[in-house]
Amino acid sequence: SISKSFQGKKVLITSGPTQEAIDPVRFISNHSSGKMGAALAEAFANQGADVHVVLGHGAIRPHGSNIHIVQVKSTLEMYEAAKEYHHKMDICIFAAAVADYSPKNIAKEKIKKAGEGMTIELVKNIDIAGTLGQEKSPHQIHVGFALETENEAFHAKEKLMKKNFDMIVLNSMKEAGAGFQLDTNKVTLFSKNGNEQTSEVLPKAQIAQLILQQIKQLPVEI
Ligand code: PMT
Repeated sequence: SISKSFQGKKVLITSGPTQEAIDPVRFISNHSSGKMGAALAEAFANQGADVHVVLGHGAIRPHGSNIHIVQVKSTLEMYEAAKEYHHKMDICIFAAAVADYSPKNIAKEKIKKAGEGMTIELVKNIDIAGTLGQEKSPHQIHVGFALETENEAFHAKEKLMKKNFDMIVLNSMKEAGAGFQLDTNKVTLFSKNGNEQTSEVLPKAQIAQLILQQIKQLPVEI
């Protein structure tokens, strides 16, 4: 329905980076700070929602009395935590930067320096948003993110369909003031019903407000 309130709504947010262990001292990760996820968590909490954040290691912790945090490291841990909550949620926002691949074997001991080169075999990770998207009910809203470097709109729309999102938030690494680490972002929102809206460069708190506004316009009764 148009103009829904978030009072008492249950919201799940994945935020921050994942870490995929190589050995006891090393991992594969990315530059996500958790700032975008934290801004969203606080925006929903301020509008009365009951917010659960599945937070990657080292990411910024959102603050608010109705914000509950579960700390995770790997993609698999993030998936398992998100799955626990998913069926009880009204809205899920997938803001985390998730590793698509992880080392096939985690070495039990620190890998010693040996030859001139080395190869780490990687295997595909579970797609958290894609997997939970297949279990989405008609009364749940899923919002994804797309972080792209080329053919941005094409890739974002493809992810919108493939992962069964109701809306996707595109941020491009090519835009100044957008993406990882910064306090600002510049986004284009693509809704499943064809709506499209591009923002200016704005503080992540204001980008979060914009995303909440667009969620209220989605034709889904939660
Ligand atoms: O944390 P910040 O420093 O503030 O930066 C914010 C951000 C750039 C990390 C954020 O705005 C963002 O774009 N997050 C998504 C990054 C990403 O991994 O995008 P993607 O295009 O690779 O993934 C598409 C979608 O599928 C995302 O919603 C992602 O959370 C989800 N996904 C991806 C892979 C996977 N295995 N599981 C997933 O759930």
